[in-house]
Amino acid sequence: MNKILITGALGQIGSELTMALREKYGKNNVIATDIREADSPVVTQGPFEILDVQDYDKMLDLAKNYEVDTIMHLAALLSAKAENNPKFAWDLNMGGLVNALEVARELELQFFTPSSIGAFGPSTPKKDTPQDTIQRPTTMYGVNKVSGELLCDYYYSRFGVDTRGVRFPGLISYVTEPGGGTTDYAVEIYYEALKNKSYTSYIAEGTYMDMMYMPDAINAIIQLMEADGDKLEHRNAFNVTAMSAAPEDFEKAIQKQIPDFELSYDVDSVRQKIADSWPDSIDADCASKEWGFKPEFDIDKMTEDMLDKLKTKLGQ
Ligand code: SER
Repeated sequence: MNKILITGALGQIGSELTMALREKYGKNNVIATDIREADSPVVTQGPFEILDVQDYDKMLDLAKNYEVDTIMHLAALLSAKAENNPKFAWDLNMGGLVNALEVARELELQFFTPSSIGAFGPSTPKKDTPQDTIQRPTTMYGVNKVSGELLCDYYYSRFGVDTRGVRFPGLISYVTEPGGGTTDYAVEIYYEALKNKSYTSYIAEGTYMDMMYMPDAINAIIQLMEADGDKLEHRNAFNVTAMSAAPEDFEKAIQKQIPDFELSYDVDSVRQKIADSWPDSIDADCASKEWGFKPEFDIDKMTEDMLDKLKTKLGQ
């Protein structure tokens, strides 16, 4: 991995991954792309191009012209948005992925794309969900993610494309807010804690989902991409997680920093249904054994850092 093209670079993962990769591999060796421009260092501090991932020809041209050896495909609709517009989600999530895989095949590039805890469904074992298990998701996002996992395996076994990926849990960060996911409450809660000392959760008390702080997610991507391919048994869709948490766990962690913080509930049935179909906690053993995955942030350490960084961002 020396020269990298990123799709969806202005999204929640992309905006931090782009900057981390530029720092490590050199500013001109990370080509950020997104469907829109924004006032962001991703656009102003290194190569940036407009790219709709449904435009295969442009994706191929950019990868050729910049002579990249790696593509990281992040552009996608998240779970709640996909549920509101399932046909568009299929077109964008699957169309974009197959285009990116085709570019990787054509130009012999290394490939990364994230899957998600959304790739599991109600018939999956709920606790310590194993790496290899039942995957019958009941959301369009989940259908996209399982299909994507299979497609990445297929491009590896059929064409020898060096595809790699993880199943991310809910990702928490202070840089860019997620757009339209089920786990977004775990980001909103920090903003609201600082702004109003209170938060109304659309996810019910006692609903456990896996979560991870963005610095651990970025490290995981880079570590997996740099890992010795011969040692990878799974290659794609490694379970990764840093914590299993419910809204009241965030409440307790925030109250350690802001004692008068209050949490209330107003459950959104669409997102609650999605959350209920996902595991409570997944098992990341294969990722640890095959490429040394080890997250650094638990909920308290994450909360301290998140509130600290957000205070500065919000000018408090
Ligand atoms: N955070 C994502 C979502 O909620 C899970 O992949 O959609």
